[in-house]
Amino acid sequence: MRVAMIGTGYVGLVSGACFADFGHEVTCIDKDEGKIARLNEGQMPIYEPGLDVLVARNVEAGRLSFAVDGREAIGAADAVFIAVGTPSRRGDGYADLSFVYAAAEEVASLIDGFTVVVTKSTVPVGTGDEIEGILRRARPDAQFAVVSNPEFLREGAAIEDFKRPDRVVVGLEDERARPVMAELYRPLNLNETPILWTRRRSSELIKYAANAFLAMKITFINEIADLCEAVDADVQQVARGIGLDKRIGPKFLHAGPGYGGSCFPKDTLALVRTAQDAKAPLSLVEATARANDARKRAMAGKVAKALAGELAGKTIGVLGLTFKPNTDDMRDAPSLEIVPALQAMGAKVQAYDPEGHEARQMLRGVDFKAGPYEALEGADCAVIITEWDEFRALDLERVREVMRRPLMVDLRNVYKPEELRPRGFTYVSVGRP
Ligand code: UDX
Repeated sequence: MRVAMIGTGYVGLVSGACFADFGHEVTCIDKDEGKIARLNEGQMPIYEPGLDVLVARNVEAGRLSFAVDGREAIGAADAVFIAVGTPSRRGDGYADLSFVYAAAEEVASLIDGFTVVVTKSTVPVGTGDEIEGILRRARPDAQFAVVSNPEFLREGAAIEDFKRPDRVVVGLEDERARPVMAELYRPLNLNETPILWTRRRSSELIKYAANAFLAMKITFINEIADLCEAVDADVQQVARGIGLDKRIGPKFLHAGPGYGGSCFPKDTLALVRTAQDAKAPLSLVEATARANDARKRAMAGKVAKALAGELAGKTIGVLGLTFKPNTDDMRDAPSLEIVPALQAMGAKVQAYDPEGHEARQMLRGVDFKAGPYEALEGADCAVIITEWDEFRALDLERVREVMRRPLMVDLRNVYKPEELRPRGFTYVSVGRP
Protein backbone atom coordinates (compact mmCIF):
# COMPACT_ATOMS: atom_id res chain seq x y z
CA MET A 1 0.00 0.00 0.00
CA ARG A 2 1.08 3.57 -0.55
CA VAL A 3 0.87 5.71 2.56
CA ALA A 4 1.30 9.45 3.06
CA MET A 5 1.80 10.47 6.71
CA ILE A 6 1.22 14.15 7.45
CA GLY A 7 3.17 15.30 10.50
CA THR A 8 6.52 13.91 11.62
CA GLY A 9 5.98 14.42 15.34
CA TYR A 10 6.09 11.61 17.77
CA VAL A 11 3.07 9.72 16.45
CA GLY A 12 3.57 10.37 12.72
CA LEU A 13 7.22 9.42 12.68
CA VAL A 14 6.80 6.22 14.69
CA SER A 15 3.68 5.17 12.76
CA GLY A 16 5.26 5.98 9.39
CA ALA A 17 8.44 4.05 10.16
CA CYS A 18 6.46 1.06 11.47
CA PHE A 19 4.14 0.95 8.44
CA ALA A 20 7.25 1.01 6.23
CA ASP A 21 8.67 -1.85 8.27
CA PHE A 22 5.43 -3.75 7.60
CA GLY A 23 6.35 -3.47 3.91
CA HIS A 24 4.27 -0.47 2.84
CA GLU A 25 5.65 2.44 0.85
CA VAL A 26 5.54 5.47 3.15
CA THR A 27 6.26 9.17 2.71
CA CYS A 28 6.35 11.27 5.87
CA ILE A 29 5.47 14.90 5.20
CA ASP A 30 6.20 17.93 7.35
CA LYS A 31 6.20 21.69 6.74
CA ASP A 32 9.31 22.08 8.91
CA GLU A 33 12.11 22.09 6.32
CA GLY A 34 14.88 21.81 8.90
CA LYS A 35 13.28 18.75 10.42
CA ILE A 36 12.90 17.04 7.04
CA ALA A 37 16.51 17.88 6.14
CA ARG A 38 17.73 16.39 9.43
CA LEU A 39 15.57 13.28 8.96
CA ASN A 40 17.06 12.86 5.50
CA GLU A 41 20.47 12.88 7.17
CA GLY A 42 19.34 10.23 9.64
CA GLN A 43 18.92 12.57 12.64
CA MET A 44 15.85 11.90 14.80
CA PRO A 45 13.89 14.91 16.13
CA ILE A 46 12.95 12.99 19.30
CA TYR A 47 14.56 10.46 21.59
CA GLU A 48 12.75 7.14 21.21
CA PRO A 49 14.61 3.86 21.72
CA GLY A 50 15.13 1.96 18.43
CA LEU A 51 13.63 4.63 16.17
CA ASP A 52 16.89 5.67 14.48
CA VAL A 53 17.68 2.09 13.48
CA LEU A 54 14.12 1.45 12.26
CA VAL A 55 14.14 4.62 10.15
CA ALA A 56 17.58 3.91 8.69
CA ARG A 57 16.64 0.34 7.76
CA ASN A 58 13.49 1.39 5.91
CA VAL A 59 15.06 4.39 4.17
CA GLU A 60 17.82 2.06 3.00
CA ALA A 61 15.24 -0.43 1.69
CA GLY A 62 13.53 2.37 -0.25
CA ARG A 63 10.23 2.05 1.62
CA LEU A 64 10.46 5.24 3.70
CA SER A 65 11.09 8.79 2.56
CA PHE A 66 10.60 12.33 3.85
CA ALA A 67 9.25 15.36 2.05
CA VAL A 68 8.20 18.96 2.68
CA ASP A 69 5.97 19.04 -0.38
CA GLY A 70 3.22 16.42 -0.10
CA ARG A 71 1.88 16.79 -3.64
CA GLU A 72 3.31 13.65 -5.16
CA ALA A 73 2.88 11.35 -2.16
CA ILE A 74 -0.69 12.41 -1.36
CA GLY A 75 -1.76 12.17 -4.98
CA ALA A 76 -0.43 8.61 -5.23
CA ALA A 77 -1.53 7.41 -1.77
CA ASP A 78 -4.07 4.69 -0.99
CA ALA A 79 -4.23 6.06 2.56
CA VAL A 80 -3.35 9.53 3.87
CA PHE A 81 -2.83 9.74 7.63
CA ILE A 82 -3.27 12.99 9.52
CA ALA A 83 -0.88 12.82 12.47
CA VAL A 84 -0.45 16.46 13.45
CA GLY A 85 -0.61 17.89 16.97
CA THR A 86 -3.86 18.68 18.81
CA PRO A 87 -2.56 20.70 21.76
CA SER A 88 -4.74 22.17 24.49
CA ARG A 89 -6.22 25.47 23.37
CA ARG A 90 -4.77 28.11 25.63
CA GLY A 91 -7.05 29.02 28.50
CA ASP A 92 -10.03 26.73 27.93
CA GLY A 93 -8.75 23.16 27.61
CA TYR A 94 -10.50 22.42 24.28
CA ALA A 95 -8.37 20.55 21.74
CA ASP A 96 -6.91 22.97 19.20
CA LEU A 97 -7.85 21.50 15.81
CA SER A 98 -6.34 24.15 13.57
CA PHE A 99 -3.46 21.89 12.42
CA VAL A 100 -5.88 19.04 11.69
CA TYR A 101 -8.16 21.22 9.60
CA ALA A 102 -5.22 22.77 7.75
CA ALA A 103 -4.00 19.26 6.91
CA ALA A 104 -7.50 18.30 5.73
CA GLU A 105 -7.55 21.33 3.38
CA GLU A 106 -4.21 20.31 1.95
CA VAL A 107 -5.32 16.71 1.48
CA ALA A 108 -8.52 17.88 -0.21
CA SER A 109 -6.58 19.75 -2.85
CA LEU A 110 -4.24 16.84 -3.63
CA ILE A 111 -6.04 13.49 -3.49
CA ASP A 112 -6.40 11.59 -6.72
CA GLY A 113 -8.49 8.43 -7.10
CA PHE A 114 -10.20 6.67 -4.18
CA THR A 115 -8.27 7.62 -1.02
CA VAL A 116 -8.80 6.71 2.62
CA VAL A 117 -8.14 9.73 4.85
CA VAL A 118 -7.27 8.57 8.35
CA THR A 119 -7.05 10.61 11.56
CA LYS A 120 -4.30 9.30 13.85
CA SER A 121 -4.23 12.54 15.81
CA THR A 122 -6.33 12.48 18.98
CA VAL A 123 -9.44 14.41 18.00
CA PRO A 124 -12.76 15.09 19.76
CA VAL A 125 -15.90 13.22 18.78
CA GLY A 126 -17.31 14.58 15.57
CA THR A 127 -14.00 15.77 14.07
CA GLY A 128 -14.22 13.06 11.40
CA ASP A 129 -17.54 14.59 10.27
CA GLU A 130 -15.88 18.01 10.06
CA ILE A 131 -12.98 16.63 7.99
CA GLU A 132 -15.42 14.91 5.68
CA GLY A 133 -17.22 18.24 5.25
CA ILE A 134 -13.98 20.05 4.42
CA LEU A 135 -13.06 17.46 1.79
CA ARG A 136 -16.56 17.34 0.31
CA ARG A 137 -16.82 21.14 0.00
CA ALA A 138 -13.35 21.53 -1.52
CA ARG A 139 -13.63 18.55 -3.86
CA PRO A 140 -17.22 17.55 -4.68
CA ASP A 141 -15.74 15.32 -7.40
CA ALA A 142 -13.31 13.33 -5.21
CA GLN A 143 -13.65 9.71 -4.08
CA PHE A 144 -12.64 9.31 -0.45
CA ALA A 145 -13.58 7.86 2.95
CA VAL A 146 -12.69 9.45 6.30
CA VAL A 147 -11.62 6.99 9.00
CA SER A 148 -10.64 7.28 12.67
CA ASN A 149 -7.70 5.13 13.76
CA PRO A 150 -6.39 6.36 17.12
CA GLU A 151 -2.90 5.56 18.40
CA PHE A 152 -2.18 4.05 21.80
CA LEU A 153 1.60 4.51 21.79
CA ARG A 154 3.51 5.02 25.01
CA GLU A 155 6.56 7.21 24.65
CA GLY A 156 9.66 5.13 25.25
CA ALA A 157 7.88 1.95 24.11
CA ALA A 158 6.18 3.29 21.00
CA ILE A 159 7.63 0.88 18.44
CA GLU A 160 6.71 -2.14 20.53
CA ASP A 161 3.24 -0.67 21.10
CA PHE A 162 2.75 -0.15 17.35
CA LYS A 163 3.97 -3.60 16.36
CA ARG A 164 2.45 -5.60 19.20
CA PRO A 165 -0.64 -3.65 20.20
CA ASP A 166 -3.36 -4.95 22.53
CA ARG A 167 -5.82 -3.93 19.80
CA VAL A 168 -6.23 -1.74 16.73
CA VAL A 169 -9.33 0.45 16.61
CA VAL A 170 -10.77 1.50 13.26
CA GLY A 171 -13.87 3.69 13.10
CA LEU A 172 -15.53 4.07 9.72
CA GLU A 173 -18.75 5.16 8.05
CA ASP A 174 -17.91 4.00 4.53
CA GLU A 175 -17.33 0.28 3.90
CA ARG A 176 -14.96 1.01 1.02
CA ALA A 177 -12.32 1.92 3.63
CA ARG A 178 -12.37 -1.48 5.32
CA PRO A 179 -10.20 -3.50 2.89
CA VAL A 180 -7.62 -0.70 2.77
CA MET A 181 -7.35 -0.54 6.58
CA ALA A 182 -7.30 -4.34 6.84
CA GLU A 183 -4.45 -4.53 4.33
CA LEU A 184 -2.44 -1.84 6.14
CA TYR A 185 -2.57 -3.79 9.41
CA ARG A 186 -2.42 -7.28 7.85
CA PRO A 187 1.06 -8.05 9.32
CA LEU A 188 -0.54 -7.93 12.77
CA ASN A 189 -2.70 -10.97 11.91
CA LEU A 190 0.35 -13.11 12.61
CA ASN A 191 0.08 -12.49 16.33
CA GLU A 192 -3.71 -12.38 16.16
CA THR A 193 -4.10 -8.75 17.18
CA PRO A 194 -7.80 -7.95 17.58
CA ILE A 195 -9.00 -5.30 15.15
CA LEU A 196 -12.05 -3.55 16.50
CA TRP A 197 -14.27 -2.14 13.74
CA THR A 198 -16.55 0.59 15.04
CA ARG A 199 -18.47 3.64 13.92
CA ARG A 200 -16.27 6.69 13.56
CA ARG A 201 -17.60 8.58 16.60
CA SER A 202 -17.14 5.59 18.88
CA SER A 203 -13.56 5.21 17.74
CA GLU A 204 -12.84 8.88 18.43
CA LEU A 205 -14.28 8.48 21.91
CA ILE A 206 -12.41 5.22 22.64
CA LYS A 207 -9.13 7.07 22.54
CA TYR A 208 -10.20 9.70 25.07
CA ALA A 209 -11.99 7.19 27.29
CA ALA A 210 -8.89 4.96 27.41
CA ASN A 211 -6.60 7.82 28.39
CA ALA A 212 -9.07 9.19 30.94
CA PHE A 213 -9.48 5.77 32.52
CA LEU A 214 -5.71 5.28 32.85
CA ALA A 215 -5.28 8.80 34.26
CA MET A 216 -8.04 8.02 36.77
CA LYS A 217 -6.38 4.74 37.76
CA ILE A 218 -3.08 6.50 38.47
CA THR A 219 -4.84 9.24 40.41
CA PHE A 220 -6.73 6.65 42.42
CA ILE A 221 -3.55 4.91 43.54
CA ASN A 222 -1.91 8.29 44.25
CA GLU A 223 -4.75 9.18 46.63
CA ILE A 224 -4.56 5.73 48.21
CA ALA A 225 -0.82 6.42 48.70
CA ASP A 226 -1.66 9.57 50.67
CA LEU A 227 -4.06 7.54 52.78
CA CYS A 228 -1.37 4.88 53.33
CA GLU A 229 0.99 7.54 54.65
CA ALA A 230 -1.70 8.76 57.04
CA VAL A 231 -2.62 5.32 58.41
CA ASP A 232 0.79 3.59 58.29
CA ALA A 233 0.08 1.19 55.41
CA ASP A 234 2.18 0.39 52.32
CA VAL A 235 0.79 1.44 48.92
CA GLN A 236 2.92 -1.09 47.02
CA GLN A 237 1.33 -3.91 48.96
CA VAL A 238 -2.12 -2.41 48.51
CA ALA A 239 -1.52 -2.02 44.75
CA ARG A 240 -0.37 -5.62 44.48
CA GLY A 241 -3.28 -6.82 46.54
CA ILE A 242 -5.87 -5.10 44.38
CA GLY A 243 -3.98 -5.63 41.09
CA LEU A 244 -4.09 -9.40 41.43
CA ASP A 245 -7.85 -9.14 41.06
CA LYS A 246 -8.22 -9.71 37.30
CA ARG A 247 -11.07 -7.20 37.15
CA ILE A 248 -8.66 -4.49 38.32
CA GLY A 249 -5.30 -5.62 36.82
CA PRO A 250 -1.79 -4.73 38.02
CA LYS A 251 -0.82 -2.00 35.54
CA PHE A 252 -0.97 1.76 36.08
CA LEU A 253 -1.08 1.33 39.84
CA HIS A 254 2.33 2.78 40.53
CA ALA A 255 2.04 5.74 42.89
CA GLY A 256 4.19 8.76 42.09
CA PRO A 257 4.29 12.54 41.74
CA GLY A 258 1.31 12.71 39.37
CA TYR A 259 0.98 11.98 35.65
CA GLY A 260 2.42 14.25 32.97
CA GLY A 261 3.27 13.94 29.30
CA SER A 262 1.79 14.84 25.97
CA CYS A 263 -1.50 12.95 26.35
CA PHE A 264 -3.10 12.48 29.75
CA PRO A 265 -3.16 16.13 30.90
CA LYS A 266 -4.49 17.55 27.62
CA ASP A 267 -6.79 14.66 26.73
CA THR A 268 -8.54 14.59 30.11
CA LEU A 269 -9.24 18.33 29.82
CA ALA A 270 -10.50 18.04 26.25
CA LEU A 271 -12.79 15.14 27.21
CA VAL A 272 -14.19 17.13 30.12
CA ARG A 273 -15.03 19.94 27.66
CA THR A 274 -16.68 17.55 25.18
CA ALA A 275 -18.78 16.07 27.99
CA GLN A 276 -19.83 19.47 29.34
CA ASP A 277 -20.86 20.61 25.87
CA ALA A 278 -22.86 17.41 25.40
CA LYS A 279 -24.55 18.02 28.78
CA ALA A 280 -23.25 14.68 30.04
CA PRO A 281 -20.52 15.85 32.44
CA LEU A 282 -17.78 13.43 33.55
CA SER A 283 -17.37 14.28 37.21
CA LEU A 284 -14.77 11.53 37.81
CA VAL A 285 -12.52 12.81 35.04
CA GLU A 286 -12.94 16.40 36.27
CA ALA A 287 -11.89 15.31 39.76
CA THR A 288 -8.94 13.37 38.33
CA ALA A 289 -7.53 16.38 36.50
CA ARG A 290 -7.96 18.59 39.58
CA ALA A 291 -6.36 16.06 41.94
CA ASN A 292 -3.41 15.51 39.62
CA ASP A 293 -2.66 19.24 39.33
CA ALA A 294 -2.80 19.61 43.10
CA ARG A 295 -0.58 16.58 43.59
CA LYS A 296 2.28 17.90 41.47
CA ARG A 297 2.30 21.09 43.53
CA ALA A 298 2.08 19.15 46.79
CA MET A 299 5.27 17.20 46.06
CA ALA A 300 7.46 20.21 46.85
CA GLY A 301 5.80 20.31 50.26
CA LYS A 302 6.85 16.72 50.81
CA VAL A 303 10.48 17.68 50.22
CA ALA A 304 10.11 20.69 52.53
CA LYS A 305 8.68 18.46 55.24
CA ALA A 306 11.65 16.08 54.94
CA LEU A 307 13.88 19.11 55.60
CA ALA A 308 11.74 20.15 58.59
CA GLY A 309 10.29 23.07 56.63
CA GLU A 310 13.70 24.76 56.22
CA LEU A 311 14.57 25.14 52.55
CA ALA A 312 16.24 28.55 52.64
CA GLY A 313 19.92 28.14 51.83
CA LYS A 314 19.57 24.40 51.26
CA THR A 315 20.83 22.62 48.15
CA ILE A 316 18.53 20.06 46.54
CA GLY A 317 19.91 17.50 44.08
CA VAL A 318 17.19 16.51 41.60
CA LEU A 319 17.48 13.28 39.62
CA GLY A 320 15.22 13.11 36.56
CA LEU A 321 13.24 15.92 34.90
CA THR A 322 11.34 14.36 31.97
CA PHE A 323 7.72 13.27 32.58
CA LYS A 324 8.85 9.63 32.55
CA PRO A 325 11.98 7.66 31.61
CA ASN A 326 13.14 6.77 28.08
CA THR A 327 11.90 9.97 26.54
CA ASP A 328 13.22 13.51 26.19
CA ASP A 329 9.69 14.90 26.51
CA MET A 330 9.22 17.59 29.15
CA ARG A 331 5.55 18.34 28.45
CA ASP A 332 3.57 18.73 31.69
CA ALA A 333 6.37 16.99 33.59
CA PRO A 334 5.92 17.07 37.39
CA SER A 335 9.45 18.56 37.62
CA LEU A 336 8.13 21.77 36.03
CA GLU A 337 5.94 22.31 39.11
CA ILE A 338 8.22 20.84 41.77
CA VAL A 339 11.51 22.58 40.93
CA PRO A 340 10.18 26.18 40.83
CA ALA A 341 8.23 25.53 44.07
CA LEU A 342 11.43 24.39 45.80
CA GLN A 343 13.23 27.48 44.50
CA ALA A 344 10.39 29.71 45.71
CA MET A 345 10.91 28.29 49.20
CA GLY A 346 14.55 29.38 49.04
CA ALA A 347 16.30 26.19 47.89
CA LYS A 348 19.11 26.05 45.38
CA VAL A 349 18.47 23.28 42.82
CA GLN A 350 21.07 21.29 40.91
CA ALA A 351 19.73 18.66 38.55
CA TYR A 352 20.57 15.87 36.15
CA ASP A 353 18.50 14.16 33.47
CA PRO A 354 20.00 11.90 30.76
CA GLU A 355 17.75 13.23 27.94
CA GLY A 356 15.71 16.16 29.28
CA HIS A 357 17.79 18.78 27.46
CA GLU A 358 14.78 21.05 26.91
CA ALA A 359 14.59 21.57 30.66
CA ARG A 360 17.42 24.08 30.28
CA GLN A 361 15.01 26.43 28.51
CA MET A 362 12.05 25.62 30.74
CA LEU A 363 13.55 25.83 34.23
CA ARG A 364 15.26 29.02 35.38
CA GLY A 365 18.09 29.24 37.89
CA VAL A 366 18.84 25.49 37.94
CA ASP A 367 22.44 24.30 37.95
CA PHE A 368 22.41 21.48 35.37
CA LYS A 369 24.97 18.75 35.99
CA ALA A 370 26.54 16.04 33.82
CA GLY A 371 25.70 13.03 35.97
CA PRO A 372 23.80 11.85 39.06
CA TYR A 373 26.72 12.11 41.49
CA GLU A 374 27.53 15.62 40.30
CA ALA A 375 23.89 16.61 40.88
CA LEU A 376 24.08 15.28 44.44
CA GLU A 377 27.44 16.88 45.27
CA GLY A 378 27.04 18.93 48.46
CA ALA A 379 23.26 18.42 48.49
CA ASP A 380 21.17 18.49 51.65
CA CYS A 381 18.53 16.34 49.99
CA ALA A 382 18.29 14.07 46.93
CA VAL A 383 14.95 14.04 45.12
CA ILE A 384 14.18 11.36 42.51
CA ILE A 385 11.48 12.74 40.20
CA THR A 386 11.88 10.40 37.18
CA GLU A 387 12.74 6.70 37.45
CA TRP A 388 15.48 6.45 34.78
CA ASP A 389 17.23 3.06 34.91
CA GLU A 390 20.53 4.69 35.78
CA PHE A 391 19.03 5.91 39.09
CA ARG A 392 17.98 2.40 40.09
CA ALA A 393 21.43 1.14 40.92
CA LEU A 394 23.27 4.19 42.25
CA ASP A 395 26.42 3.50 44.25
CA LEU A 396 24.83 4.40 47.58
CA GLU A 397 28.17 4.65 49.41
CA ARG A 398 29.29 7.21 46.88
CA VAL A 399 25.96 9.05 47.11
CA ARG A 400 26.34 9.32 50.89
CA GLU A 401 29.92 10.55 50.58
CA VAL A 402 29.17 13.31 48.05
CA MET A 403 26.04 14.61 49.78
CA ARG A 404 26.18 17.08 52.63
CA ARG A 405 23.69 14.91 54.45
CA PRO A 406 22.16 11.56 53.55
CA LEU A 407 18.51 12.44 52.94
CA MET A 408 16.56 11.05 50.00
CA VAL A 409 13.02 11.83 48.84
CA ASP A 410 12.13 9.14 46.31
CA LEU A 411 8.96 10.21 44.47
CA ARG A 412 8.95 7.03 42.31
CA ASN A 413 9.61 4.40 44.99
CA VAL A 414 12.71 3.26 43.12
CA TYR A 415 14.38 2.13 46.35
CA LYS A 416 13.17 0.20 49.36
CA PRO A 417 13.31 1.66 52.86
CA GLU A 418 15.16 -1.45 54.06
CA GLU A 419 17.93 -0.81 51.48
CA LEU A 420 18.50 2.81 52.36
CA ARG A 421 18.04 3.05 56.11
CA PRO A 422 20.77 0.56 57.14
CA ARG A 423 23.17 2.62 55.02
CA GLY A 424 22.52 5.65 57.17
CA PHE A 425 20.04 7.44 54.91
CA THR A 426 16.93 9.22 56.01
CA TYR A 427 14.53 7.98 53.36
CA VAL A 428 11.11 9.32 52.37
CA SER A 429 9.05 7.71 49.62
CA VAL A 430 5.45 7.70 48.36
CA GLY A 431 2.74 5.89 50.31
CA ARG A 432 5.06 3.78 52.42
CA PRO A 433 5.66 3.85 56.17
C1 UDX B 1 -0.03 7.56 27.29
C2 UDX B 1 -0.83 6.28 27.01
O1 UDX B 1 -0.28 5.20 27.78
C3 UDX B 1 -0.83 5.98 25.55
O2 UDX B 1 -1.61 4.83 25.28
C4 UDX B 1 -1.40 7.19 24.81
O3 UDX B 1 -1.48 6.98 23.43
C5 UDX B 1 -0.57 8.43 25.13
O4 UDX B 1 -0.54 8.63 26.53
P1 UDX B 1 2.54 8.21 27.61
O5 UDX B 1 2.04 9.58 27.95
O6 UDX B 1 3.66 8.09 26.66
O7 UDX B 1 1.34 7.32 27.00
O8 UDX B 1 3.04 7.52 28.95
P2 UDX B 1 2.50 6.52 30.06
O9 UDX B 1 3.48 5.44 30.22
O10 UDX B 1 1.11 6.12 29.84
O11 UDX B 1 2.61 7.45 31.38
C6 UDX B 1 1.87 8.65 31.53
C7 UDX B 1 2.17 9.31 32.85
O12 UDX B 1 1.62 8.56 33.92
C8 UDX B 1 3.65 9.46 33.18
O13 UDX B 1 3.85 10.72 33.78
C9 UDX B 1 3.92 8.34 34.15
O14 UDX B 1 5.00 8.61 35.02
C10 UDX B 1 2.61 8.27 34.90
N1 UDX B 1 2.33 6.96 35.50
C11 UDX B 1 2.07 5.88 34.70
C12 UDX B 1 2.28 6.82 36.89
O15 UDX B 1 2.51 7.78 37.64
N2 UDX B 1 1.98 5.60 37.42
C13 UDX B 1 1.71 4.51 36.65
O16 UDX B 1 1.43 3.44 37.22
C14 UDX B 1 1.77 4.64 35.25
